[in-house]
Amino acid sequence: MGETGVNEEFFARRAAARARLDAIDPHKRAGGATADPQRKDWFEAVYRLAEGDAANVPWANLAPHPLLADWLATRRLDHLRALDIGCGLGDNAEALAAAGARVTAFDLVENAVAWAKRRFPRSAVDYRAADLFAAPPEWRGGFDLVHECYTLQALPDSLLDEAAQALASLIAPGGLLLVIARARDEGQEVAGPPWPLPPSRIAALAVGGLRCETLEDIPATDAMVRHWRAAFRRDG
Ligand SMILES: C[S@@+](CC[C@H](N)C(=O)[O-])C[C@H]1O[C@@H](n2cnc3c(N)ncnc32)[C@H](O)[C@@H]1O
Repeated sequence: MGETGVNEEFFARRAAARARLDAIDPHKRAGGATADPQRKDWFEAVYRLAEGDAANVPWANLAPHPLLADWLATRRLDHLRALDIGCGLGDNAEALAAAGARVTAFDLVENAVAWAKRRFPRSAVDYRAADLFAAPPEWRGGFDLVHECYTLQALPDSLLDEAAQALASLIAPGGLLLVIARARDEGQEVAGPPWPLPPSRIAALAVGGLRCETLEDIPATDAMVRHWRAAFRRDG
């Protein structure tokens, strides 16, 4: 299917797809998490059932996340090695590349990677299928900028300590981890997934030699729910 951009009709269809996908998500049922602990089957299903229509992918905006675009607006990333985690359809990876970075982008789901490559056939981004929890050893300490948007909040809490270690392990000395995620108060109940992150989960990203450099708590607007934008530096 050709790509026509987003409009009200796109968002209405995307909301309908989200409802259908929630209905087959074991994590939406009490006790269902053991059926698909890493949510791999569900992510695979999302991209398979979408049949090439981005309106069937609940996080597809066909544009970089506004908080990444805003962060990039005042920076150049020339010559930096960047890694985009859980890249989905590729818009954030393309924005990092447009800012000058040499970008590798990966997703757990091969279908997502193939789709991103189809959308950006002349891309300089190196799109790969890979698992954050079993990343290629040669990526260890290999990136000046690691960007993560919305993957942590899509993972069960029980995986987040391991995810934090995995993210930290990818960052070169002196490098930066940039995290964009929905935010919630400590102890606030949410009916995830997705599970907006509480402050303790952002603080827990400062592992493996990372320290928090900036933490922005961005209040909700008409256009966007409350978010964190956090940057962690690895000592160089
Ligand atoms: C909520 S989507 C966000 C996609 C993209 N980052 C964005 O902001 O539009 C989460 C993505 O992470 C991918 N993912 C989930 N678990 C992963 C893992 N262990 N390793 C790599 N990617 C993963 C999913 O397939 C999905 O594309």
